[in-house]
Amino acid sequence: MRILFLNGDGISDEIVSATHRVLEASSLSLDITFEDVGFRALDHDGITISDETIERARQADGIVLGPVSHMDYPPTAEGGLNPSGVLRKKLDLYANIRPAKTYDAVPRPVASSFDLIVARENTEGFYADRTMHVGTGEIMPTEDLALAIRKVTRKGSSRIARAAFELAARDGRKVTCVHKGNVLRVSDGLFLEEVRKVRSEFSTLEFDEILVDAAAAHMVRHPDRFGVIVTTNMFGDILSDLASELSGGLGLAGSLNQGDNHAMAQAQHGSAPDIAGQDCANPTSLILSAAMLLDWLSARYSKPELAQAGTRIKNAVTQCLSSEATRTSDLGGALGTKDYTEVVIRTLREAN
Ligand code: IPM
Ligand code: MG
Repeated sequence: MRILFLNGDGISDEIVSATHRVLEASSLSLDITFEDVGFRALDHDGITISDETIERARQADGIVLGPVSHMDYPPTAEGGLNPSGVLRKKLDLYANIRPAKTYDAVPRPVASSFDLIVARENTEGFYADRTMHVGTGEIMPTEDLALAIRKVTRKGSSRIARAAFELAARDGRKVTCVHKGNVLRVSDGLFLEEVRKVRSEFSTLEFDEILVDAAAAHMVRHPDRFGVIVTTNMFGDILSDLASELSGGLGLAGSLNQGDNHAMAQAQHGSAPDIAGQDCANPTSLILSAAMLLDWLSARYSKPELAQAGTRIKNAVTQCLSSEATRTSDLGGALGTKDYTEVVIRTLREAN
């Protein structure tokens, strides 16, 4: 399996290196290569993600993308593209799968324990870089008026719905469709219609529909009511951060961008430039994202050993999270990025 690591900005060096070390320790024969995206790519290629890098990503079996500081990039015309948006769109990574689960020993701001997955549409919605064939989905007809266009297609809605129901069917989870169809009657109406069509093929699974604002409130009050949440891009972006934070922190949140032919592991959080280079970033989110990538590769290429390695990584992380002594400082522990990574690797090896 050819795995391409795309190293970005801020804490990317540290968590990409940690994730690479964990994959290397998994006794898989992976062909791993690295490319830069973000500020370093802008320096040497004049663009934050070059066409060559996109092509390499297309050729790889799986991609691991480090966090990027795209909010600080120059305008698109000066090379400041958002690498994550470009890859999601160009490789048609239409489903962003974001699990959020609590760990008994990790402090969290809610009483209930929960285990939910946000299945977020990833190629359209309110994302201005994804809505237009030419141009962007944000326009400014006058200096006092800005408009943003939201794109919802039948195909986009139907395929994220299918991804969500298939995921839910694996272990009989309930599916909840999150929308704002009371206001966005046409666009979320269309989304709901497509989700309901797919739902009819999975009639044994429990299913409900809920407005996005109510979903946020329910998530805080009883997050255990959710199994898989299927929703449009922006709602999924926001709710997945909420769910992860409630589970104990964004640093725990794995995330996989997947399509029919490509998949890209990517932490849910940003590049945290304020703590970059201080050996205190928690690499768990990217490590768990890489484990999800192994799962996806296993199913795609019928290689059970990849899923087994993914499970071993998840188990090793779970074990490390169970004690303060083997956690990073964001979770009340004392370990830095490097020491934590060593402990995860040791735990992984001991379990073998
Ligand atoms: C995410 C991020 C991105 C998004 C940003 C970096 C554009 O928040 O992956 O959730 O909104 O999709
Ligand atoms: Mg986000």
